[in-house]
Amino acid sequence: MTKNINRSRPFDPNHEPDCNPSQNNSLSAIIGKKMQRRQVLKGSVALAITSMFASPILSAIRPRMAKAQNPLLGFKAIPISEADTIIVPEGYKAQVILPWGEPIAGDYPDYRLENTGAEQGMQIGSHHDGMHFFPIDGNSPYEGSSEEGFLVMNHEYIEPRYMHTSAQGKALTRGDVTMIGENRRDSDEVLKEMNAHGVSIVHIRKQRNGSWAVVKDSRNRRITGLTPMEINGPVRGTDFVKTLYSKDGTATRGTLNNCAHGVTPWNTYLAAEENWHGYFRNGDVDNQGNPNLPREHSRYGVSTGDTRYGWELAANGNDEYIRFDASTKGNNAIEDYRNEPNTFGWVVEIDPFNPNHTPQKRTALGRFRHEGIVFHPAVEGQPIVCYSGDDARFEYIYKYVSAQPYFAQTAGGHLLDNGTLYVARFNEDGSGDWIALVFGQNGLTRENGFNSQADVLVNTRTAADFVGATKMDRPEWGAIDPQTGEVYFTLTNNTSREADQVDTVNPRASNRWGQIVRWQEQNNNPSGNAFKWEMFVLAGPEDDSQTLKGDFLDIENQFCNPDGLWIDAERRIWIQTDMSESVINTGDFAQFGNNMMLAADPETGAIRRFLTGPVGQEITGVITTPDRRTMFINVQHPGATSTKEDFAQGKINSRWPDGNGSPYPRSATVVITKEDGGIIGS
Ligand code: FEO
Ligand code: CA
Ligand code: CA
Ligand code: CA
Repeated sequence: MTKNINRSRPFDPNHEPDCNPSQNNSLSAIIGKKMQRRQVLKGSVALAITSMFASPILSAIRPRMAKAQNPLLGFKAIPISEADTIIVPEGYKAQVILPWGEPIAGDYPDYRLENTGAEQGMQIGSHHDGMHFFPIDGNSPYEGSSEEGFLVMNHEYIEPRYMHTSAQGKALTRGDVTMIGENRRDSDEVLKEMNAHGVSIVHIRKQRNGSWAVVKDSRNRRITGLTPMEINGPVRGTDFVKTLYSKDGTATRGTLNNCAHGVTPWNTYLAAEENWHGYFRNGDVDNQGNPNLPREHSRYGVSTGDTRYGWELAANGNDEYIRFDASTKGNNAIEDYRNEPNTFGWVVEIDPFNPNHTPQKRTALGRFRHEGIVFHPAVEGQPIVCYSGDDARFEYIYKYVSAQPYFAQTAGGHLLDNGTLYVARFNEDGSGDWIALVFGQNGLTRENGFNSQADVLVNTRTAADFVGATKMDRPEWGAIDPQTGEVYFTLTNNTSREADQVDTVNPRASNRWGQIVRWQEQNNNPSGNAFKWEMFVLAGPEDDSQTLKGDFLDIENQFCNPDGLWIDAERRIWIQTDMSESVINTGDFAQFGNNMMLAADPETGAIRRFLTGPVGQEITGVITTPDRRTMFINVQHPGATSTKEDFAQGKINSRWPDGNGSPYPRSATVVITKEDGGIIGS
């Protein structure tokens, strides 16, 4: 008998439980600002905002830009769209490559709905996300060939109903899976789902006709939810990560929910582990029968109930599946998987040029729901500095500074194993502080419940709560201006923020639209502990938004829920949106159409819509070739808004990119070029 289950938590970040119970309302307690903030919301005090945000805080320290040869935004804005297609400006064209299921390795099995779990492990995964083009030369992440390279991309999650023949004809929503009997899952379906997660590394090359194609290369590789990985940094070998699989706490299997990514100055790829918590459960209870989870589970949202896809229920009961149930079963931690969730929530380093490289979980970067990670350009003899946001409501933005200086000759992953993790506090006056999360400092002591640096790192969120960091509106991607060193972060939304919780960097209660903040490190010293910030844009509709110049957004650029972010070498800021599947094209969100990508000018704050995507998806992942004449972006989860009733009847609301005749929509990469061969955006 096959039964549908509608898991109680079909995943949507907008409907997740809030996990931050801490009271560190560092800003909202400042009385007297609230009126000002409410006025900001109504858009009625452009003057107040202008003086607050667009004051010359940064312009004084920002070097003036030499006049660009090409205007930064040289294209004509496109309108919003609800069409099931990609739309780019006049003079541009788009080609789809590497859809989910495209063969890239091993036996190169063709995509079919009937593909096995093992076949999926030789194909592009699903739900494409953060991505980088590594020029084939292999010397630098941003210099080298613009015609050939390794495209490396994350696969954040899956839509099981589009993956399995067993789903056909059933009333399934986007998160549902089918069960065998009461409480088991088909083992090969579970394998296929795990192999559709992770990272793809694929050699691609520009063809004579200008299109791009896969090159068969023994270095092409899939990294999945099963790939053996090493745990490195201060948490390596500690009791927190000892399991039945790795009794000495040095290894784990797989990376999951890789959202955005990072690129190190030494030409490796970083995959961030975002909503990993949902893949685990822990049913431990105390004597009274109440949930009894350690803080390293509960503070991250590991649940006592169902897991996201029920992988622990695989019928064959194999070790690689049962580990997703972290309940206490054995006599001690090396007899079960109570610590398995502690081996997730990290940033994973992967060498795309070495197919034998074992991915490394870099624990010094902290454990949370890492959206992505972004580096300042490396300077010889100076520390490495990077930033990472924790994408959940009321969570934080972090910075890491390596202990050792960077030298191009010797740089490598060891720079990510030894350094200081800081968390951000944004002050009302536009200043900001980086607070070190170091055992023994800032109250992170035994008396206050922290026993080691490993403890601080495994419980990064709790440590950040303790030191009074600023609770943000879901930090998503960061990007760094290559000329000025200014750091930008998207804050996508936070509908849980109450009126008495607003502050100047999170200025809206029940924030549906999101904002983009930017800051400059004090004295332009990335490794220091102070910064100055300002709002770059409050996203939203024409009557509830605010540009850098103090204007409303308008027909050419209104957008909301900024998520993906990247700044190219000419300083064009590329902004991608992720309106949730649960609200897109409905109510007040209908005025934004489908998810999109825009480009912005960092000097003037001008923003212009560049691309709109098909039905039900989000646009995410953006990189160009070094010559900036070819851009790659990703389309994730087309058709996710199809209702379960329509799914049962085979009425899917997107058939992108294959069109009618294809069974289901598929996430895929889009290559964008200019018909005149020019620089993208110019
Ligand atoms: Fe996976 Fe925060 O988006
Ligand atoms: Ca994202
Ligand atoms: Ca999303
Ligand atoms: Ca998002």
